[in-house]
Amino acid sequence: MNDYTEEINRRRTFAIISHPDAGKTTLTEKFLLYGGAINLAGSVKGKATARHAVSDWMEIEKERGISVTSSVLQFEYGGYCINILDTPGHQDFSEDTYRTLMAADSAVMVIDASKGVEAQTRKLFKVCVMRKIPIFTFINKLDRDANDTFDLLDDIEKELGIATCPVNWPIGSGKEFKGVYDREKRCVISYADTEKGTKEGTATEIPVAEEDRLRAQIGDPAVDKLLEEIDLLDGAGAEFDLEAVRAGNLTPVCFGSALTNFGVEIFLKHFLQMTTTPLARKADIGLIEPVTNDFSAFVFKIQANMNKAHRDRIAFMRICSGRFDAQMEVRHVQGGKVMRLSQPQQIMADDRKILTEAYAGDIIGVFDPGIFSIGDTLCSPKEKFQYEGIPTFAPEHFARVRQIDTMKRKQFVKGVEQIAQEGAIQIFQEFNTGLEEIIVGVVGVLQFDVLKYRLENEYNVEIRLEPLPYEHIRWIENKEEVDIEKLTGTSDMKKVKDMKGNPLLLFVNAWSVGMTLDRNKGLVLAEFSRN
Ligand code: G4P
Repeated sequence: MNDYTEEINRRRTFAIISHPDAGKTTLTEKFLLYGGAINLAGSVKGKATARHAVSDWMEIEKERGISVTSSVLQFEYGGYCINILDTPGHQDFSEDTYRTLMAADSAVMVIDASKGVEAQTRKLFKVCVMRKIPIFTFINKLDRDANDTFDLLDDIEKELGIATCPVNWPIGSGKEFKGVYDREKRCVISYADTEKGTKEGTATEIPVAEEDRLRAQIGDPAVDKLLEEIDLLDGAGAEFDLEAVRAGNLTPVCFGSALTNFGVEIFLKHFLQMTTTPLARKADIGLIEPVTNDFSAFVFKIQANMNKAHRDRIAFMRICSGRFDAQMEVRHVQGGKVMRLSQPQQIMADDRKILTEAYAGDIIGVFDPGIFSIGDTLCSPKEKFQYEGIPTFAPEHFARVRQIDTMKRKQFVKGVEQIAQEGAIQIFQEFNTGLEEIIVGVVGVLQFDVLKYRLENEYNVEIRLEPLPYEHIRWIENKEEVDIEKLTGTSDMKKVKDMKGNPLLLFVNAWSVGMTLDRNKGLVLAEFSRN
């Protein structure tokens, strides 16, 4: 046992995923409120304050009042040290949103009770499934009229293919919202509409066994319905099984209202008990254990020009094992160098703090003089191993890029390549030609604006983007076995290659993907690339 074992074991690092407007920001604020990290909810980065957040590193963000970047929030609660990986809450999210999930040990999924599973949740959920991390569900906005509870759970099971296990059960919704029933304690916690932004009021707990008291508190119809639902639930619902939760096969579900602050602390407590300490990670020499191994980390995000005056680049890394000390030397495996990390810092929503130490589970940002790439490994100089790469996620929007002044070819290529290296965009070429035709793929359309803006401002190159109709991209998994030239797809299919020369196919719709698979027996296509 190391003298910092306890520090690592009390860390919980998770991401919050949701569709925009489900209440991610509000829930995060309430978490911070319990942790005492902020005094008044509403001060984190609500839409109104987004313009002033530190992450407004680009004019685009300011102009649109949205946050393109993500940050990390660290706070203490009940003896735990919690790292929340915040992902941009806007529809126009980017590949970074996905990558952030690679740095988390679990995910909290926020669902709007009147909407059920929505598009963006579905996309982010896929990444969680790929990583097999535990997922905890908070069904929010019960203070508004909600869908039927059984239907909501059904929706999650059908849409996302994960079993659900309600930790508590809502009693009514909207004006009739009375509170939640805690299944383990077999009692009802009645709803108090606390003042927005304050800590949870003193909730009244009444055991269901004390039926008369309960009837007096929440009324006959609510009690009758609840007793019926408890019967159904106990008979039919999935058994709680921590192993299945940890394996990402079962999601515990809590209900509440982030805005009126009901059910948030109950959820946080359950969540912290059930979620994991920092997880071991796969490297080329085997699993690296957080506590027993020396310092190691991997880069999951690179952000350029956070401070325009300094033209700086920050590499965000997730510490996977051991203790980090700002004075220590580390090996940058891919760069083949032993070095000290420059200006290690913790990047919070609205400030940066220089760090002297950090532990497995923590996220640090370091100044990057242009040497780091996404997926790079850092470890103790005594060792030399590499963590599994971060997959390339499928872009969903494509455009052909043309430079307006063809004399600036060199800057153009350099700019596009550097921005691609940071992982903000992906670039592709026509299958049989060189770099003269560049196709750019992005996960969120906002990245097109980011590319145009950055090329103009940082590389002095003007471009024109011509949107392409493709929406689906597939890597050819068995490229050694397939003769790409001879592939017969649909008429709309386009063959391209990525910067590493991997062949890919672009399609306008999902039907074409299926058709192409049908026409080319033995062809294996993938939505992610691990090369
Ligand atoms: P997001 O980060 O997932 O995009 O969602 P966010 O927390 O910003 O919440 C989206 C909207 O939903 C906000 O209202 C917020 O106040 C509201 N909301 C969040 N949780 C609850 C809840 O439990 N009950 C109810 N009734 N509303 C909730 P807005 O009007 O868009 O913004 P604002 O003016 O309140 O900031």
